[in-house]
Amino acid sequence: MIKIYAPASIGNINVGFDTLGMAISPQDGSLLGDCVTITSNNSFDLQNVGKFSSQLPQNIKKNIVWKCWNHFCIILKKKISCSIILEKNMPIGSGLGSSACSIVATLVAINKFCKLPLNEKKLLSLMGKIEGEISGEPHYDNVAPCYYGGLQLIINENNYISQPVPYFKKWIWIVAWPGINISTSSSRSILPSKYKKEICVEHSRLLSGFIHASHTKQESLAIMLMKDIIAEPYRIQLIPNFLEIKKTVLNLGAINFGISGSGPTIFVVCNKQSRAVKIKQWLSENYLKNKNGFVHICQLDLLGARKIGI
Ligand code: HSE
Repeated sequence: MIKIYAPASIGNINVGFDTLGMAISPQDGSLLGDCVTITSNNSFDLQNVGKFSSQLPQNIKKNIVWKCWNHFCIILKKKISCSIILEKNMPIGSGLGSSACSIVATLVAINKFCKLPLNEKKLLSLMGKIEGEISGEPHYDNVAPCYYGGLQLIINENNYISQPVPYFKKWIWIVAWPGINISTSSSRSILPSKYKKEICVEHSRLLSGFIHASHTKQESLAIMLMKDIIAEPYRIQLIPNFLEIKKTVLNLGAINFGISGSGPTIFVVCNKQSRAVKIKQWLSENYLKNKNGFVHICQLDLLGARKIGI
């Protein structure tokens, strides 16, 4: 039996649309991600369990796990006989890389089960391809950090898909999911298909500056450059009272605030634990829309997808 856990992730950290993403794990040690368990069987069998399994499609061929298994069978040119259990702990359409969690956990598990026919790069490339089929366009900023852990810069040039970026150890990340869902494809479809030259130049400046500040350990410069001029101006309409919430959270001592992935989860960066606790409390009381919603104080997850259990 192989059981793989794949962590939640924040795609775009205000700067770096589709090119910067990070894996996260709650400070309290709880697991925020999906698990996939695979065992030998005479035929293929898939079972969905977990808090959010009721959000999964009824048609097995629309299930991400089935798609991953099917891709793997095509690559290996054989039907892989196995029994898979998907523990769907991540809400779908939350902006926390829910589909990436399922894709990464499944592909890592099947690859181990089949005695590693795919190397890391081929596996990551397949993860990006399947993510693209689901969200409408390939993007690696959830699958790469979910697989490798840490903060990842997506390069996607020849053999270089992703590279780790040095991170600021004292940054605390708070994520708040209000309990409602927005599909990644619809949140992407409201973005312009073309951007003006000024925006391209501005975003190059922000991203290259952020990467430089990260490598040279200039924390305040890095924070100054974490601005979203690509997605936030358009996605703001999906999040009621976004600007008021941002103002309050910054007044409570946050050093950065933005939309996680395609939303509606928001993320907050803090560098003091006491402030993080206060902000978590405020968001729990003011941002959640129903009892499914949650707020977690997180750290960067440095391990990425991993084997758990026996
Ligand atoms: N970079 C992607 C987006 C992440 O913002 O659409 C999706 O979770």
